[in-house]
Amino acid sequence: MVDKKTNISVDGKTKIYGIIGDPVSHSFSPLMQTTGLQELGINAVYLPFPTEKERLGDLLKAFTEIDLQGFNVTVPFKSDIIPFLDEIDPAAKALGSVNTVAPTRNGWKGYSTDGAGFVRGLQEANFDPKGKNVAMLGAGGSAKAVAYALCEAGIHRLDIINRTKANSESLQALLTEHFPDVLISTVQTYLGYDLLLNTTSVGMREGDCPAPFELLVGAGLVCDIIYNPAKTDMLKQAEERDIPTQNGLPMLLYQGVLALEIWTKQTAPVKVMAKVLKNHLS
Ligand code: ATR
Repeated sequence: MVDKKTNISVDGKTKIYGIIGDPVSHSFSPLMQTTGLQELGINAVYLPFPTEKERLGDLLKAFTEIDLQGFNVTVPFKSDIIPFLDEIDPAAKALGSVNTVAPTRNGWKGYSTDGAGFVRGLQEANFDPKGKNVAMLGAGGSAKAVAYALCEAGIHRLDIINRTKANSESLQALLTEHFPDVLISTVQTYLGYDLLLNTTSVGMREGDCPAPFELLVGAGLVCDIIYNPAKTDMLKQAEERDIPTQNGLPMLLYQGVLALEIWTKQTAPVKVMAKVLKNHLS
């Protein structure tokens, strides 16, 4: 059954995709992904599936039963999901984090598109990470994914600046093991970074800026993975110095774009996905 006005089709052949998390009702993915799937002409819906850690195994069995075509994983299950999967992509394995799962002939396969989504989003700022000097604030789950993808993209230097030294040191150890050619430090070793990046939640509240002044000096691009507020204090301070900025919207968009491309093996309709995301946020 196709609605002529919206072109939305839902019938007995409708394919099902989804997202699991706790909570998951706030997620933008159902809207963005259903729009993307239907724009590709795929008769599909993408639904939120709130769940609990104890129910993950049963939920995966149910997903197999209903022939679910793929799903995203959000907090707090990005690590918890791993034991229930049959195969893990190497980057997701190294990170111990999965945000995208696709059915294969051998069962469920997990991927991580968060970091790659951030790197793909940098294209919008005409920023090629290869050979660049980067300072990153934070050493949590998002930082790990983004740092791994930046190293994979060939950055020259990464200075991880974090409140808890033990966390930045364990991230440094993980990255050094996989990327021995990248200079990785847990203190500021440079002035005038090509990219200064915030991955902490500091900045969600107006008036909070995670970056000490010296990190902003001479920066080429300043990014914040926060998208709400759209302009954090760190981005405002960068703009006052005429430094180009980017918020977390491109990362949110492209982690979804990459997931859709894994599931459908087609090029995602980025423009319509971006439009629906922006409309919804504004
Ligand atoms: P996420 O998955 O969103 O990355 P996370 O794994 O909890 O969340 O990581 C949050 C990061 O933000 C951590 O690096 C944390 O610093 P600590 O390692 O010291 O915990 C950082 N962070 C959170 N709140 C902070 C604050 N008020 N000041 C400085 N850093 C903060």
